[in-house]
Amino acid sequence: MLKVGVVGASGLVGRNIISILEEKKFPIKELKLFASSKSKGKEIYFNNDIIYIEELNETFLETDFDLVFFAAGSNISEKYIPELMKRGVISIDNSSFFRMREDVGLVVPEVNPEDLNINKTLIANPNCSTIQSVVALKPLYDKYGIRRIIYSTYQAVSGSGQKGLNDLDTGRSDFYPFQIKGNVIPHIDSFLDNGYSKEEMKMINETKKILHDDDLKITATTVRVPVRVGHSISINVELKSDFDLDDIRETLSQFNGIVVVDDVKNNKYPMPIHAEGRDEVFIGRIRRDYSTENALNLWVVADNVRKGAATNAIQIAEELLKKGAI
Ligand SMILES: NC(=O)c1ccc[n+]([C@@H]2O[C@H](COP(=O)([O-])OP(=O)(O)OC[C@H]3O[C@@H](n4cnc5c(N)ncnc54)[C@H](OP(=O)(O)O)[C@@H]3O)[C@@H](O)[C@H]2O)c1
Repeated sequence: MLKVGVVGASGLVGRNIISILEEKKFPIKELKLFASSKSKGKEIYFNNDIIYIEELNETFLETDFDLVFFAAGSNISEKYIPELMKRGVISIDNSSFFRMREDVGLVVPEVNPEDLNINKTLIANPNCSTIQSVVALKPLYDKYGIRRIIYSTYQAVSGSGQKGLNDLDTGRSDFYPFQIKGNVIPHIDSFLDNGYSKEEMKMINETKKILHDDDLKITATTVRVPVRVGHSISINVELKSDFDLDDIRETLSQFNGIVVVDDVKNNKYPMPIHAEGRDEVFIGRIRRDYSTENALNLWVVADNVRKGAATNAIQIAEELLKKGAI
């Protein structure tokens, strides 16, 4: 039984981590919860107990944790994770701060569990849109090879945490640069000099790192839509060899964590309303792209707070447990 911490326990991802730890009966002997001073003393129910959120400060480092989940943004991860690493405590980080460091594994357990060995004390959880995309692409990568990927995303406001949900509910633009209610905003995270947003570059760079292929040609357009939970991604993928569509459907549906929902004659295709609260990645609208050779279109939907963050983090912890690494 483990001594576990959750940093960012009052946030959207943190709250989901706590409830999924309970759902999955993760072996915990003590759970300690942390957030900013604003949330100090807030009650959280866990396994029929009340746990009070503590303010995160240096004293947090005095607890002899086995494992800490970080879901409080990059600044907090940057400050505290190196200190825990020195103490031999394992951190699983939802922020983007350490993701691209060569000495840190960026892991989706169904896709690249071998990268859990890169660093014994820190594992990074990928970007939410990247996670559901690489789950969809991995079986195709292994069977056919991939030459080029075009991502176009339709991302829910919960991807921005509580502030995104608030903007959708109020119709104001307190967090986003424009109102999101009744609107679509082609702007996620800040813009870079190359004209891409950071979110777009995260999808491009993280996909290459997770699939271990720097030669992949990838482009991305990431867009915020007025949906509460569930990111949808149109993926156009050019494979290295020809394929049969039935074989694609079979290959995808056999892969751990994928559910194929693809029956357009009966209006069956994945949507956020079906993915919310689920841990699988749903794939539909599977069809040939006739404009070029060996190309395919996929429509990929998942719960961004669960599989895109909290569930994936806990699956990483479960893999570490199986390996005896915790
Ligand atoms: N939402 C998603 O779909 C998603 C997906 C993948 C990754 N992530 C990443 O997960 C992390 C959390 O995101 P979220 O969506 O859960 O955001 P959120 O709802 O805004 O929650 C942020 C959490 O961080 C805490 N926090 C902020 N400043 C702090 C400080 N100075 N000291 C201690 N705690 C502090 C907040 O505590 P208070 O409530 O006390 O302010 C809250 O618990 C971010 O790194 C985000 O990029 C989110």
